[in-house]
Amino acid sequence: MENCTITFIGCGNMSRSLIGGLIANGVKTNKLIATDPDAGQRQGIEQQFGIKAMANNIDAVANADVIFLAVKPQVMKDVVQELSAVVKNSSKLIVSIAAGIRLDSISEWLGESAAIIRVMPNTPALIQAGAAALFANEQTTETQKNTAEAMMRSVGTAIWLETEALMDAVTAVSGSGPAYFFYFMEAMEKAAVEMGLNNDQARLLTIETALGAAKMALLSSSDPAELRKQVTSPGGTTEQALNTFMDGNLEGLVKEAMDAAQQRSIELSKSLGK
Ligand SMILES: NC(=O)c1ccc[n+]([C@@H]2O[C@H](COP(=O)([O-])OP(=O)(O)OC[C@H]3O[C@@H](n4cnc5c(N)ncnc54)[C@H](OP(=O)(O)O)[C@@H]3O)[C@@H](O)[C@H]2O)c1
Repeated sequence: MENCTITFIGCGNMSRSLIGGLIANGVKTNKLIATDPDAGQRQGIEQQFGIKAMANNIDAVANADVIFLAVKPQVMKDVVQELSAVVKNSSKLIVSIAAGIRLDSISEWLGESAAIIRVMPNTPALIQAGAAALFANEQTTETQKNTAEAMMRSVGTAIWLETEALMDAVTAVSGSGPAYFFYFMEAMEKAAVEMGLNNDQARLLTIETALGAAKMALLSSSDPAELRKQVTSPGGTTEQALNTFMDGNLEGLVKEAMDAAQQRSIELSKSLGK
């Protein structure tokens, strides 16, 4: 990865987090280029990271080994079609993080087969705590796969998927997942305030509890169900709360919510890929 020249198309939040992660992991700033139509965005990224930012996408990818597509899904078609002439007959790797845009749509817009890797990142990547899933097409080499994986690992964890269809499940788990936990924290905070804690106390205790539980689940050799049982004494307070969740079928509701997210991801892919 250190020797690759990487061009980021789009200077938004995701590009910034990746660029920050790569530089922190030893990638030289002269190996990174970013593009954006907005002069303010280009100036911002140049000042923040000391990398070159350009307005012209075609010029910016001329010497790139990796083209990292980080624009909104709605503008992906135009961006990919614009780049097709430069990608043709090259060994450039395209990495797309655009939600809902399938590999065959990108290939079709390019007008030829190219090495393409699709990635579903999530927002904690902004603080180097992301969880990303990757899927590569058949044209991608092992070296290119390693490069894409190393890029995503610079801002968190990364896993490979066996089929692209699993991207819709990943969207429902880690893509949309941060919001589920925010919602749960929001509900706990509200309940804590109603019980008499002040707002600061309620927030701190809720967030630190979520963080502590996540760390324990990550570091422990026991699975979450086992960890739950370990902290649930018969007849105790935790058991009372968990019984209430179970009576309300929290598990069924979570499954229903994630099915709805997965279904929406499938629908969006169909409409965005046209
Ligand atoms: N944020 C997340 O948690 C997350 C999670 C999973 C996937 N993603 C995907 O990541 C991608 C980027 O997300 P983001 O949050 O970083 O978006 P963002 O902040 O909107 O950044 C996209 C940037 O691309 C610029 N742009 C628009 N057209 C362009 C063009 N033709 N050439 C070059 N740059 C162009 C935009 O400029 P203007 O603002 O002037 O249009 C904007 O600065 C999206 O496809 C999203 O689906 C994000």
